[in-house]
Amino acid sequence: MAAAKALELPSLYFYPRKTVIYRKYGKKPQSLVAVALVFLLTLVFGLFLIRIYLKTVPEENQTVDEVLNMSVLWMAPFLSGSGYGTEALSFIQGLHKHISNLSIYHFGDIVEEDYVASLSEDTQQLLKQLWASNETLPRYFIKRQYEDEELARKIDTRRRMFPDGSIIKEPILRQLHDVVIVQSIPRGWEPYLFDTAKYRVGRTVFETDRLPDEWAAHCNYQVDEVWVPTEFNVQTFSGSGVKRDRLQILPQTVDTETFSNPRVTPRPRPKECLDSDFIFLSVFRWGGRKGTEFLLEAFLREFSPEDSACLAILTATHKMKTNASYYHGLIHQFANDLGITPAIRPRIAVLEPSISNQDMPGLYAMANAFVLVSRGEGWGRPYTEAMMMNVPVIATNWSAHTEFITSETGYLVAVEKLDLYPSDDEEMSNYWGHLLARPSICHLRQTMRYVKDHPKDAKRRAANAKQMISTRFNQDAVTRTLLGHLKRIKANLTKEKVETMLAFRAQQIVAEGFV
Ligand SMILES: *[C@@H]1O[C@H](CO)[C@@H](O)[C@H](O)[C@H]1NC(C)=O
Ligand SMILES: *[C@@H]1O[C@H](CO)[C@@H](O)[C@H](O)[C@H]1NC(C)=O
Ligand SMILES: *[C@@H]1O[C@H](CO)[C@@H](O)[C@H](O)[C@H]1NC(C)=O
Ligand SMILES: *[C@@H]1O[C@H](CO)[C@@H](O)[C@H](O)[C@H]1NC(C)=O
Ligand SMILES: *[C@@H]1O[C@H](CO)[C@@H](O)[C@H](O)[C@H]1NC(C)=O
Ligand SMILES: *[C@@H]1O[C@H](CO)[C@@H](O)[C@H](O)[C@H]1NC(C)=O
Repeated sequence: MAAAKALELPSLYFYPRKTVIYRKYGKKPQSLVAVALVFLLTLVFGLFLIRIYLKTVPEENQTVDEVLNMSVLWMAPFLSGSGYGTEALSFIQGLHKHISNLSIYHFGDIVEEDYVASLSEDTQQLLKQLWASNETLPRYFIKRQYEDEELARKIDTRRRMFPDGSIIKEPILRQLHDVVIVQSIPRGWEPYLFDTAKYRVGRTVFETDRLPDEWAAHCNYQVDEVWVPTEFNVQTFSGSGVKRDRLQILPQTVDTETFSNPRVTPRPRPKECLDSDFIFLSVFRWGGRKGTEFLLEAFLREFSPEDSACLAILTATHKMKTNASYYHGLIHQFANDLGITPAIRPRIAVLEPSISNQDMPGLYAMANAFVLVSRGEGWGRPYTEAMMMNVPVIATNWSAHTEFITSETGYLVAVEKLDLYPSDDEEMSNYWGHLLARPSICHLRQTMRYVKDHPKDAKRRAANAKQMISTRFNQDAVTRTLLGHLKRIKANLTKEKVETMLAFRAQQIVAEGFV
């Protein structure tokens, strides 16, 4: 059973269109010997195909050499270093060679000077090269950028009025873009951003079982389609009322270069961990959604100082400068509350939150396993990074990351139930009334123990994971998906359709009282 499952994996992940080959030959054989023989030949042939496929993808697939004659404006918090911002940057790094007119602009978050300075010379150069000129931006946007703060605040109302008194009645035809993509939460998709768009795309994500208020309306009316990273998001968005036919999947890219360098030097073990310890690494934002208390309780209860196990945590708190000793204090308190005294406590190390992005591969390389029982993810980037680094991953069996973490590529922890997010968390009021997974502490304990005690199995799953992640989510693969969407959109942008669309939108703006 397990063996059969293991073999299904490559056909599923590596070359979906060729799965048929497997199936066709796999079903015909008359005798056991024939079954075995065909099986073996198929396997060899399969591996051969995988090699060819992996090697020839760029030549084989026309789209990668192709340049689409299209004008695309992409607005995202490029200079903020936020999740949306870094994701947007990885998209345009793949896309810019394949679009004749691609321009970008910072939108939706503050500019983090330190982050910008930390970008490589090449990346900074690319940002400059693609940076939108005044001619390619919506007029209102330009005004808003340049007027003084006081004035900007005044005009930032539902009335789309410029400081000079003129009013937006219709899209301002400066340079009309085929597509304007805005990457932010849907509440940020204000009509003025799309003034110069023939076609409007929103890129977003959410991590609970439904959407916050108003999100569905923004998805349905402020853009023509929405790009989300996984099928999980398609389900939760459509379940919350977003029209199914405007949802498209665009996965995140995984930085296969940074996270696969075999010569990366593992970070030295934290001083709290012994040389013989099996290191469980976890990387998360402190607090409710990431299942912090489930992880701590499971580790504290399952292991003792006599076990050669150590939990290494890299964490941070939203918009709060903190340090390792602060979290040590919180963990100490948590353990005390469970009645687990320092004498019987397993080793837990908290890393200083100041670790830079460049040090992340070394951090994963230090770990024997990665564990994060998140209560809900819209994608799950740390998982993909650990997987690229050949580290076995343990994750909750619910939400977006189950699209790539399966029992063949990692370890899934059973979900006790979906329950309400506590409404005393002011910061996360977006989650109030939403359901998130409650991972089973009991199963998490068993799973951590199992992974520690079965290095061979863990290694096998980690190898599968790396292969799968690097094949499905490398930059070329995701760029092809992205180009596919843009081509589909372009094919549908006939002159009449565009005129109808713009006329309809101008009406909508008037009807909704923006003027
Ligand atoms: C690209 O498209 C624009 C407008 O759609 C057109 O004017 C131009 O000729 C096209 N360029 C090429 C090289 O096809
Ligand atoms: C692309 O930009 C050039 C100028 O940089 C412009 O002449 C051309 O019309 C643009 N093409 C499209 C499709 O917008
Ligand atoms: C862009 O437009 C703003 C406002 O109209 C103006 O102040 C600024 O100088 C322009 N920038 C460039 C590079 O033309
Ligand atoms: C760590 O942060 C706490 C507050 O969160 C502060 O009181 C303490 O001085 C800091 N310690 C160090 C070593 O910076
Ligand atoms: C994960 O959950 C799904 C149902 O949501 C279930 O079918 C599957 O067996 C579970 N996988 C594991 C490994 O527990
Ligand atoms: C093209 O656009 C129309 C609406 O204008 C839509 O109904 C149709 O599904 C689109 N076709 C494709 C291939 O996207």
